[in-house]
Formats: sequence, structure tokens, C-alpha cells
Amino acid sequence: MQLQAGSEHHPDLRAALIHLLSAGGKRVRPTIVFLVGGLFSANKQKLTTLGAAIEMLHTATLVHDDLIDGALLRRGIPTLNARWSPAATVLTGDFMFGRAAKLAADIDHLPLMKFFAETLTVIVNGEITQMFASKGLIDRKNYYQRIYAKTASLFELSSLGAALIGTEDEQQRSALKKYGYELGMAFQIMDDILDFNGDQVKVGKPVGSDLLNGLVTLPAIYYAERYPDDPGVLTLADGGWGNREKMEALVQTISSSNAIRYSYDEANEHIEKALESISTFEGTHEHVLLTDLAHYVADRSY
Ligand code: IPE
Ligand code: IPE
Ligand code: MG
Ligand code: MG
Repeated sequence: MQLQAGSEHHPDLRAALIHLLSAGGKRVRPTIVFLVGGLFSANKQKLTTLGAAIEMLHTATLVHDDLIDGALLRRGIPTLNARWSPAATVLTGDFMFGRAAKLAADIDHLPLMKFFAETLTVIVNGEITQMFASKGLIDRKNYYQRIYAKTASLFELSSLGAALIGTEDEQQRSALKKYGYELGMAFQIMDDILDFNGDQVKVGKPVGSDLLNGLVTLPAIYYAERYPDDPGVLTLADGGWGNREKMEALVQTISSSNAIRYSYDEANEHIEKALESISTFEGTHEHVLLTDLAHYVADRSY
């Protein structure tokens, strides 16, 4: 990919953008855009712009998220906040949000632009809700709302956005919206499992850190439901999440419990639903690839 950080911008900003974008990332969201758009032979230029807009939005949220989480590693390289001041990091994220909005506007599709802006508000509202939620809170409903807001909403935008460009058919649009939603829910559940059993080098970001940040995700929820009297679980609500030694032990215990299997099963249920929702496209090349993508999400180890 040609890196167009823009020579007219401040050299430090330019360096930061190159640093971020060359680290790659999996680029799952643009992949969804291209495959869904391909179902309708949609305009490639518009799909490329949408894919870039969404990836830019996604990367900007990660820049801010890593600052908020104090995370020092992302995509296998140091985060901006590991090297720069919080102020410079915030501003770089803001710059990227601006770029993302410009790209989205370039598609010249007002309903899509509205949906793009709304999705950003959903993501930010999710992050704020997470930030102000009591740490160590074990709450399934809250968990699902949170992962929808922070992840599935953007997958939904990727899939529905490409369908908005490609077709006027409301049924097909809503089937693809569902595909994005289900894939996104599975993607975040897998991300939360990898925080327990992932290999940090492969994952490219810190693992074992959710509980230490007071973030109770699906594996911990299953474990707490099954063993409510476990001392590690009991300590969570009382601020024990801040104790590194205790949390490392709890991560180990949960990793080797059935909670991981149950979480995989739940991710797979979402994958099944994602596949059901695109069954009407069977027989197309894109259907094969969207199916592969769903299987990749369910099996991913990075
Ligand atoms: C990271 O997203 C944030 C989550 C929603 C889990 P990705 O796992 O898609 O990150 P990159 O873009 O590949 O680095
Ligand atoms: C990041 O959520 C999602 C957003 C940026 C909105 P997480 O905090 O779970 O993602 P990672 O684990 O840092 O990639
Ligand atoms: Mg984070
Ligand atoms: Mg995470």
C-alpha cells in the first residue's frame, strides 16, 4: 500500500502515521468491505475509499485506546503513547479521525456518511461506559453491550456500508448487516479468549491484561458463574483486580478451565449465525471467501 501520510503535514505527524500504518494489522474490516462489495460488483473506487476510511477510523480508535489502557505494544511494535506524550498521541488520533471522515465523505453517499458518524459515537460511548463501569464488574449483559459497541458495530458498518454502495435490496442489506454483527461479536470474543491463552508475540499486543485493568470478559464471566466462591473471583469486586500476582494466578486458572471451551463455543454460535445470514449468496466466489473469513475468525490465534 502506498503510504500517503501527506508531505504537507508536520513531519512528526507524518512519521507517526507511517509508523502506525506500516505496522500493518490484519486489515479484517477492509477485507469485509471488498468481499461484500464484490457480491454486487460494486464500484471498486468507492469500496477502496470505504475500506480505507474504516481502517483509518479503526486505527485512530486504537491509538486512543492504547493511551487510555496504558498499553505499550500494538501490532508487534511500540505504541505511540510508549514514545510520545499523551497530548501528541491524542492529537495524532484526532488527525486520523479527521482523515477517516474525509475519506468517508468522498464516497458521496449521505446515508453511509451518517451511519459512519453514528458508528463512531457508538464506539466512543462504549469506551466511556467501559471506563466508568465499576472495575471488576461481573455482568454478562454489560459485556455483550460493550463488545457490540467497541467492535461489532464497526464490523456491521464494514458489511452494511459495502452493501449500501452495492445494492438497493433491503433484504440483502439487512442480511449483510447481520453477517457483520455476528462476525464482530465472534471476533471480540476470540480477542478476549486470546487475552487469556494467546501468545503475545503472535498477538502483537499485551496479553493477560484485561483482568488487570478490571475488565471482566467472557472467559472470566463463565468461570465466575461456575465457581462463584473461588477466592480469585471473590476478590475481583473488592478491588483485587489491581493485584498483579493474584490476577496472573487467576488468568492461569481460567485458562486451564472449561471457561475457555464455553467461550469458544459461544464464538462459534455467532459464526454459525453469520454463515446462515449469507446463505442466499451461495454459489458465488465471494460467498466462499466470506465463509473462509468467518472460519478464520473462529480459529484465529493472532
Ligand atoms: C483490535 O482489532 C481491537 C479489537 C477490536 C479487538 P484488530 O485485532 O482487528 O487489530 P489489527 O487492526 O489487526 O491490529
Ligand atoms: C479496543 O478494545 C476497541 C476499540 C478501540 C474501540 P480493546 O481494548 O479490547 O482492544 P485491544 O485488546 O486493546 O486490542
Ligand atoms: Mg485496549
Ligand atoms: Mg482486548
